[in-house]
Amino acid sequence: MTYPVIEKPSLAEVRMKPNLQDYDATYRSFQWKSVERELAWLPGGGLNLAHECVDRHALGGLRDKVAMLWEGKEGEEETYTFEQMRRESNRFANLLKGLGVQKGDRVFLFMERVPELYFAFFGILKLGAVVGPLFSAFGPDPVRDRLLNSGARVLVTQPDLRQRVASILKDLPELKHIIVVNKNNRSREPLARGDLSYEVLMANASAEFGPLTTTKDDYSIMHYTSGTTGRPKGAVHRHYAVVQHYLTGKWVLDLHREDIYWCTADPGWVTGTSYGMSAPWSNGVTQVIYEGGFRASAWYQVIQKYGVTMWYTAPTAIRMLMKAGEELPGQYDLSSLRYICSVGEPLNPEAIFWGQKVFHMPIHDNWWQTETGAILIANYPILSIRPGSMGKPVPGIRAGIVEQDGKELPPGQEGDLAIRPEWPAMFRTYWQDEERYRSRFQNGWYVTGDRARQDKDGYFWFVGRTDDVINTAGHLVGPFEVESALIEHPAVAEAGVIGKPDPIAMEVVKAFVSLKEGYEPTPQLRNEIMRFARQKLAAGVAPREIEFVRSLPKTRSGKIMRRLLKARELGLPEGDTSTLEED
Ligand code: PRX
Repeated sequence: MTYPVIEKPSLAEVRMKPNLQDYDATYRSFQWKSVERELAWLPGGGLNLAHECVDRHALGGLRDKVAMLWEGKEGEEETYTFEQMRRESNRFANLLKGLGVQKGDRVFLFMERVPELYFAFFGILKLGAVVGPLFSAFGPDPVRDRLLNSGARVLVTQPDLRQRVASILKDLPELKHIIVVNKNNRSREPLARGDLSYEVLMANASAEFGPLTTTKDDYSIMHYTSGTTGRPKGAVHRHYAVVQHYLTGKWVLDLHREDIYWCTADPGWVTGTSYGMSAPWSNGVTQVIYEGGFRASAWYQVIQKYGVTMWYTAPTAIRMLMKAGEELPGQYDLSSLRYICSVGEPLNPEAIFWGQKVFHMPIHDNWWQTETGAILIANYPILSIRPGSMGKPVPGIRAGIVEQDGKELPPGQEGDLAIRPEWPAMFRTYWQDEERYRSRFQNGWYVTGDRARQDKDGYFWFVGRTDDVINTAGHLVGPFEVESALIEHPAVAEAGVIGKPDPIAMEVVKAFVSLKEGYEPTPQLRNEIMRFARQKLAAGVAPREIEFVRSLPKTRSGKIMRRLLKARELGLPEGDTSTLEED
């Protein structure tokens, strides 16, 4: 089905003149060098992401500007200026130095969205260590896998999260320190033996730190991302990525100095760092950080209370707002909003039209991945929107639709979405898996793992993924991770996991499970396995549905055929089953 084009607004109509005014001309003449010149850099030519986001403003004209408007889940409010952010992150850098942490060491954050997470994040980067943010909803298994694989030396966490993963902490020989943030004394529990108190260490750390010694190519941030096989891989980025965070913040999110920005992504995922930290702050913009979870009324309240002007969110969130009804937003003053963007999953045209109806503006979709580090394809304020399309490549990015041999396909044809390397935010490796990293580059392209097509006017349209990775509510889930957790349950013989279509979350995790001899497929057992998986993984990652089967379809070499499970679930043709061996 084709939907009517949403014509670009005339420049006279828009509330704020867009930063990018002529897409085609800019795309043709663009050079990264010109963006590099807009950043501060370090004396001597180095580059540091924290310096660009914090110190440059604190030491320049934005010293007393509010960087962070924080609202806690218990209703607490705190604000921090760029200067306060500079001092707090310096303290954290000194604290780490005092513990003997060195450049290149991995320091992981397993925290809720509290201000201390942001101070720690920038402090780690100032020291030149590598920061690894973890999704705060994770259970013990994903946390163990990531800390083990990265050889993390320090974990910064909070009392209840530490408690949740306590069982795995002894399995981590390289983990030397656990720093516990007891935000506003929320926890009355004493520190566990050997743990360090954030508050005590920070009180004794100097607020001045320096000089910063990172280069543009030093590693900065690593985010784990799921593939079809094996454990998640740590995609490693470098400080140079800030160049692209800054640029896309300016041209795609259209950030202006006057904006009040709100990114709803969790800082444990890449959107939460690239666009929940780096893009807004490198542009010197004030942002709202809301610790609470999703509730439609609470979200509208955030927009009203803080006067949010620019909002970056995700399709599942928009669909949940749609479900909460059209009347609710009418009860709030949302007139501050001027621009909305979305990422992470296909944005259905209905959601875009709903945005027009309720917020009086369409929602602008954009596309990227953990590996790409920053937005690569986008809709812009000055381009017409083709509902259902992800938009056009960011200036500086060459995207194409290719066949397996790397040959580019003409407009209209579906193929692999691929990008010409390299760009500033491109990942530099998968931690300790250089081979897998190299396999992502073929015939002069970075092959994204997404299927797409391009229309004759250069708009890109998402078709689907080429692998079995599940996208649930914008979070990628590797079926292998879930299957591994399930088979640890004593009753489970085998498990096969797929994404089942869902009207809100796009896909939910569904598991097919065969039982060991002696176990009966009862509803009680199903609930118990479900609970077991949820405790090990995380609510969104664990299966929402479990179906007991006698056996799973496998290839002759014993690999579970998830594709077939999915086809059967959806009532689709089973395709090539020549390698199937079913008992
Ligand atoms: O399949 C694409 C989907 O999400 C994947 C990237 O997920 P992740 O690495 O977790 O990065 C999150 C940062 C965006 C992509 O390979 N995806 C992302 N954006 C879109 C999308 N699918 C359709 N439309 C989008 N706009």
